Amino acid sequence: MAQALLQTPSPLLPTQGAPRQAAWNAKPPHLAFEAFEGLAPEPDSAQAPVPALADPSVFDEITAGLLQQPATISPKYFYDQLGSELFESITRLPEYYPTRTEHAVMQQHAAAIADAVGHGRTLIELGAGNCEKARTLCRTLAPACFVGVDISADFLHDAVARMREEFPGMDARAVGADMTRGVTLPADIPRTGRLVFYPGSSIGNFDPPHALMLLEQMRDLVDGEGEPHANGGLLIGIDLPKDVDVLEAAYDDAAGVTAAFNLNVLTHVNRLIGSNFDPAQWRHLAFFNTLQSRIEMHLQAMSPLQVRWQGGGVRDFAAGECIHTENSYKYTLPVFTDMLARAGFSRAQAWTDPRGWFAVVHAQP
Ligand code: TRP
Repeated sequence: MAQALLQTPSPLLPTQGAPRQAAWNAKPPHLAFEAFEGLAPEPDSAQAPVPALADPSVFDEITAGLLQQPATISPKYFYDQLGSELFESITRLPEYYPTRTEHAVMQQHAAAIADAVGHGRTLIELGAGNCEKARTLCRTLAPACFVGVDISADFLHDAVARMREEFPGMDARAVGADMTRGVTLPADIPRTGRLVFYPGSSIGNFDPPHALMLLEQMRDLVDGEGEPHANGGLLIGIDLPKDVDVLEAAYDDAAGVTAAFNLNVLTHVNRLIGSNFDPAQWRHLAFFNTLQSRIEMHLQAMSPLQVRWQGGGVRDFAAGECIHTENSYKYTLPVFTDMLARAGFSRAQAWTDPRGWFAVVHAQP
């Protein structure tokens, strides 16, 4: 399927199937870390005096999650320095197909995508990070203006500075903002001809109601924040449902990098709330929940454990009990197109790879 027009209404629910036995196929964490010695987690900080804990809202969010039944840790705490490095390694793993498949789709259909989205526009990348994906797009689209938006502002400023070097005629801006809280762009960013770019299937990391809210916010950006003839569009990457073994391997690779990435959240949390998690007592679990059409990542206690944190907080875990750390929803194109329609994008066009594993979707109001 090289290209498909998707304008028909479609069922609301993700692809349903018989509930599937969870594949508890994780490796013990010591194996996971051995495979990744160069990036061993930092030593447990719980015994050392805690230098500076996170601000109170972060402290409250994390401890509230730990006290939930079942316990949760928000995926945003994956991304400390080591977590960001591990994530970059994940994108290069043989099992992790999304990054390279999305890249291949964009390369293979570069001309058609450029025709559909238009040249010389204002390109706005959400979660821009190192701006690598926008860089490739800028070469074909030659936008007049580029705006990178990311929660990690310092990292972003450097990346945008490099964009200015490669594209001297382009007005390149960095906006440090948490896109999940709504983005307001500087007043002088053009309101017409915007292309909002959200690659990497990151929309799948939000629950469907939250994903819908984000798509609505994206539509507001595309609409030039109230401009009558905005003529904008959204280009978004979507990971599609596929063979369960392929999906599960992508989130539980043989070298144990994803396991190390998941376990690293405990070390980061130790620094943020002064807790005494010992990552060696936990293991990484990743499995596809067919009913909800999502990969789930959890950390599972391998024995009965007690975790304590600053201020006297405590949580007991039974052997086998889990902390839920992330979901990655896999939408079929009809289901995702329906969600786009509910967010006010009535037109959608998609390009996929020959195996139909990943889609790049262009949506317009
Ligand atoms: N959004 C991508 C995905 O769900 C990348 C990603 C986010 C990821 N968190 C992850 C990949 C954890 C592996 C493990 O695939």
